Amino acid sequence: MEGLSKTFPGQRALDRVNLAVRRKEVHGLVGANGSGKSTLVKILSGYHGPDADAAPTCVFAGAKVALPLTPGESHRLGMRFVHQDLGLVPSLSISENIGLAAGFPTGVARRIRWRAQLALAREGVRRVGLERSPQTIVERLSPVERVLVAISRVLLDQEGTQLLIMDEPTANLPHSEVERVHAAVREIVGGTGAGVLYVTHRIEELFALCSQITVLRDGKVAALLAAAETDTDTVVAEIVGQRVDQKGAEPGAREGRAGGAVLVTKAISARVCNDVSVELRRGEIAGAAGESASGKSEFGRVLFGLTQPTSGTLLLEGKPVKLAGPAEAMAAGIALIPPDRLRQGSIGELSVRENVTLASLDRSVGGALAWLSIRQEKRDVAAIVRDFDVRPSGTEHRLEMLSGGNRQKVLLGKWWQRKPKVFVLDEPTSGMDVGAKAAVHSALRRAAADGAAVLVLSSDEVELSELCDRVLVFRAGAVIDELAGSRLSRQDILTAYYGNGDTGGKSFQASEDLGTRKEQLS
Ligand SMILES: Nc1ncnc2c1ncn2[C@@H]1O[C@H](COP(=O)(O)OP(=O)(O)OP(=O)(O)O)[C@@H](O)[C@H]1O
Ligand SMILES: [Mg+2]
Repeated sequence: MEGLSKTFPGQRALDRVNLAVRRKEVHGLVGANGSGKSTLVKILSGYHGPDADAAPTCVFAGAKVALPLTPGESHRLGMRFVHQDLGLVPSLSISENIGLAAGFPTGVARRIRWRAQLALAREGVRRVGLERSPQTIVERLSPVERVLVAISRVLLDQEGTQLLIMDEPTANLPHSEVERVHAAVREIVGGTGAGVLYVTHRIEELFALCSQITVLRDGKVAALLAAAETDTDTVVAEIVGQRVDQKGAEPGAREGRAGGAVLVTKAISARVCNDVSVELRRGEIAGAAGESASGKSEFGRVLFGLTQPTSGTLLLEGKPVKLAGPAEAMAAGIALIPPDRLRQGSIGELSVRENVTLASLDRSVGGALAWLSIRQEKRDVAAIVRDFDVRPSGTEHRLEMLSGGNRQKVLLGKWWQRKPKVFVLDEPTSGMDVGAKAAVHSALRRAAADGAAVLVLSSDEVELSELCDRVLVFRAGAVIDELAGSRLSRQDILTAYYGNGDTGGKSFQASEDLGTRKEQLS
């Protein structure tokens, strides 16, 4: 592509971008939130048309292609997509979602052969290592599993694949699953000779998977780098450019600040939680590490009343509580930021301001003089936009016009405003660029310093090791280890959850303890 520009009302998202992806090449596309990555992807998919006056040119597989593309043309040319929002239909099954993308096998009179379709879906699910029946409704899947379904659709639709385009497929995946995605990408490249355009915020992925790297900054190509000839610092410098004001990048260690326990769980068990006893303390940032089915997200849902424990007790400030649902949890001062908040917690057609105040209507409307409350509301929302560095920085933009990462910031801010006593965040910075992550981390440190008990559930070991005072390691529903002090590096966390015992065997000891405890119980 040459000379690609895209202007939205009042906003130039792409500015004379050149991009070349070769056969069998994995080409990394990086850049800060809002730098234009998804816009570029959407032009390739035929969702957006580029600015016509810039006269962009596009050559695909040796032939000149007229722009704008339509979605049909894009597919016919051999482009396959895993979009940032995955594009799955939540109310349909895995198998039906695969059929929608890859085409259903048909028999006599073009009847869909459901059995063949199921077999096909089973194959797709197997190839991405997803342990689910293909008849599972997508709504029931975790974010990670949804990504794998989206990838399996492409795997099954391999025929004619010339260019695979993936927009942040690994934003929510822990270390081991990132490897799985890479394996799937390599399989597609090996099997088809296709090129890949791979969007990510994880710099380490560029070096693990990509040979070329294009960095976008404010809609322009800031750099084109060969992975073998560059390094992390160079890439980060190109991404942030002028934005070296990485707010709150102060180092993590804040030892000795933890106060008394706010929320205590005693032997909590639920569907995928097993005998979890944890203390969350005032002024402390605790972390939870673990793979996607390790039970850490389920534990978060228990704390927010979304899942009812089957046994065990929850103590809030020393008193036993039963949380019948999120409303009670919120009233008690507990907040949960869910992992797929873009889907669950927002309304795209409403403005940033309206989305923020949806969660806190009780606060804004409380004033005796309505107009005062509205002024307060505007001030609160403006503060969030400033604190989290939401770009563009207005409060009246429709939420759906913000880039993925900036939407995440708004939704984080929405809960933020409630100033919870216990703040549980599931993958708080997924899809955020380096600067945005730092802003969120410093906001969380501020919340802890103000006395909140913070629990960060994350599949990003680097984030946990930098941010947390203490990290609980989940595996198979149980807390198998607790890391603190000098045992809190990324390597310590990985070693603990893969449990190969290299850290002096403590993780094994912990799981053995648990085993004997369970034996005693039964
Ligand atoms: N439909 C739209 N209408 C108006 N502006 C838009 C629209 N879609 C995107 N934008 C703007 O275009 C710019 C680029 O957004 P884009 O989604 O391409 O960013 P991105 O690089 O994918 O960011 P992220 O890493 O957060 O996903 C942003 O400033 C965004 O607000
Ligand atoms: Mg994007």
